[in-house]
Amino acid sequence: MSARLSVVTLDGPAGVGKTTLARRMAESLGLAYLDTGAMFRCIALKLGPGAEKLPEEDLRDRCAQWVFTLGGMGQQSTLFCNGVAVRGEVRTEEVGMLAARIATVPAVRDILRQTQRSIGEMSPLVAEGRDMGTVVFPDARFKFFLDAAPEVRAMRRLRDLKERGEAAELTSLTEQIRQRDALDRNRAVAPLRPAPDALIVDTSQLDIEGVLGVMLHHINVHGGAQ
Ligand code: DC
Repeated sequence: MSARLSVVTLDGPAGVGKTTLARRMAESLGLAYLDTGAMFRCIALKLGPGAEKLPEEDLRDRCAQWVFTLGGMGQQSTLFCNGVAVRGEVRTEEVGMLAARIATVPAVRDILRQTQRSIGEMSPLVAEGRDMGTVVFPDARFKFFLDAAPEVRAMRRLRDLKERGEAAELTSLTEQIRQRDALDRNRAVAPLRPAPDALIVDTSQLDIEGVLGVMLHHINVHGGAQ
């Protein structure tokens, strides 16, 4: 265990609750929290629709201009792009879909993987995404893979959007989630899948507290995160 990096990875499909759980877990463990989906979302928002069709070398050059850093701890962890905090504007369904498309481009993944890795080597953290346990931190001390049926995830998203007073409809949310799953699971580079040594947690029957409890218990009985 000692050769392992002090990183907890949380991977899983869109809408499974990773962002909330990673934040809560980081707070409980006193670690920083890295939302790698926000990095892809930020780049997707800057590049705009159709960018995945641009020549890969152009994309590499453009992505190299954006430097991501992480500040703060626990729930206060904040991702910065060129010194500016990445905030709610990246969190729309539309930007999520653009992010899933740009994330299929190997050059973009290459650049972000290097940054993610170097952030994890600098300080212990909880890292959330699609390929944290498989590609970016294969030597992480703890790995979790969260899953739930697309219908369950769409229902949760509908509830969240309604709570925020935003209009949404279950059939189209389910369809969007299926499209995101197809892009994330079937891409050639770093597809979404559990690492062989990840604990797979089916969240269908559990609420946030329940999933958090399962993960923290696993970490505690195996010697703690740091
Ligand atoms: O977790 P999220 O919904 O914020 O992620 C948005 C998209 O970014 C997701 O559909 C695929 C991509 N992504 C990725 O390919 N690898 C990651 N480690 C994180 C996100």
